[in-house]
Formats: sequence, structure tokens, C-alpha cells
Amino acid sequence: MNKQFIAGNWKMNLTLDEARDLATKICGTLANSDVVDVGVFPSYVFLNDICGILNGSNVVVGAQDMNNENSGAFTGEVSGPMLRDVGCTHVIIGHSERRIIFHETNSIINLKIKAALSYGLSPIFCVGEKQEERDADRTNDIVGSQLSCGLESLTAEQVKELTIAYEPVWAIGTGKTASPEQANEVHAFIRSAIESEYDNDTAKNIRIQYGGSVNPKNAKDLLGQPEIDGALVGGASLEPNSFLEIISAAAGL
Ligand code: 13P
Repeated sequence: MNKQFIAGNWKMNLTLDEARDLATKICGTLANSDVVDVGVFPSYVFLNDICGILNGSNVVVGAQDMNNENSGAFTGEVSGPMLRDVGCTHVIIGHSERRIIFHETNSIINLKIKAALSYGLSPIFCVGEKQEERDADRTNDIVGSQLSCGLESLTAEQVKELTIAYEPVWAIGTGKTASPEQANEVHAFIRSAIESEYDNDTAKNIRIQYGGSVNPKNAKDLLGQPEIDGALVGGASLEPNSFLEIISAAAGL
């Protein structure tokens, strides 16, 4: 098991005051703890503030998406250099909400991962199947092709900079969690796919987070699985106590 990485994806939630308050409470509680890696992913418009609050702490800050271009006429978009400028070190790429609602394809996601790495941002690369794909026994096919397309032409050295998040679409925001065994099985598949594409060292060391209705009650069982190296938390990351309890569960393993 690798060092656990617990990340809070705040999605399109919170006011600026609430976001500041949440970041301040997380930072205050975790002050000198580095047993677990922790990150928060606020909305773009809060990034500058939250990076300021968490600057010098152990909590990293990232964006929920980015454009793959450096700059230019892309109204409404945000680039990697802009994220670096405000202090981000991480970025979520390929979240299922981006894939489904905003029609992001595997090839766009591949471009975004490459761009993020070229700007020194560490991507959390999300993969996961829909309910009907799981029902049709296609989980490994879907996740396997998301992985191979998303990572196309990346070197092992580049892949080592990534975190992968396995987020079954049917478990996101539904209260329906993958069982620890179900999640562990897909994580093992992801690791074996990385091993066949790259090497044993890369596969062993890459962190694979689970995401989908993680909460303080189920965190310990999920995070205790041998292939699960952390969590990408949505709803339960919006409230300091529940997020901190998930971090404590990871720290207690
Ligand atoms: P929930 O924890 O709200 O299910 O969201 C998971 C997620 O999408 C994190 O990226």
C-alpha cells in the first residue's frame, strides 16, 4: 500500500466565505501532520484565495479541470500556466462529469494530461464505468480503454507523476458505494494494466484513489483494501468534520 492521498473535489459548491472557512479549518487541524497526503480542489474562482490560505501547509491545491492550450482565444477556459500562477500543484482530469456533461473524449483527456505534466501540474486522472457498462460486464473493457487512450504516448516517468482515481459513475453522488471488494478488484485491474503497458515499479508506485460516495462511515473499509491508496471525495469533502474523519480513517490504517 502506498501513502494515502485524500482529495476533496468541491465541484460547483460553496460560497467564497464557506470555501475560505473550510480551507482554514482543514489546515488548522492538519497543521503538522504528513501521515496522509491531502488536497482540495475548489472552483477556479476561489483558487487564488484558497492557495493563499493553504500556502506553506501540507495541503495541496488543484483545479477541477484545465484546457490543454497554453493561451489564446478560448473564451471561458483556464490554462495550466494560469493554474501554476495562482499556486496550484495538481489538477483533476477526465472526471466523469466532464466526460458526460461536457462531452470530453479520451483523446482530449490525453492532451490535457500531457499539457498538465508539461506545466508541472500533477494530474488526478479519473476513470470509471457507467451502471449499464457494469451490468453488461464491460467494466474492465471501459476502464482499460480509458486508461490506454488517456495515457497514450506517455512515458513511465510521466505516468509516475499521476494519481489515478477509479470513480464508478453509478457510485458518484448516489450514496451507492462500490463494495470494498468491488473497488479493490478494479484497482487491481488498473494496476495490472499499468504493469503490462509500463513496468512493475510504475504499477506498484502509482497511487489509485477510489471515488464515489466515500464518507466517514465507509472510508476505513474502502481505504483498508490493499490496492486502494486514497480517496477522491465529493459531497463529504464539503464539511470539515466529515472530510477530516475520512483523513483520520486513512491515517489510522
Ligand atoms: P461523491 O463523493 O459526492 O459521490 O463524489 C465523488 C466524486 O465525483 C469525486 O470526484
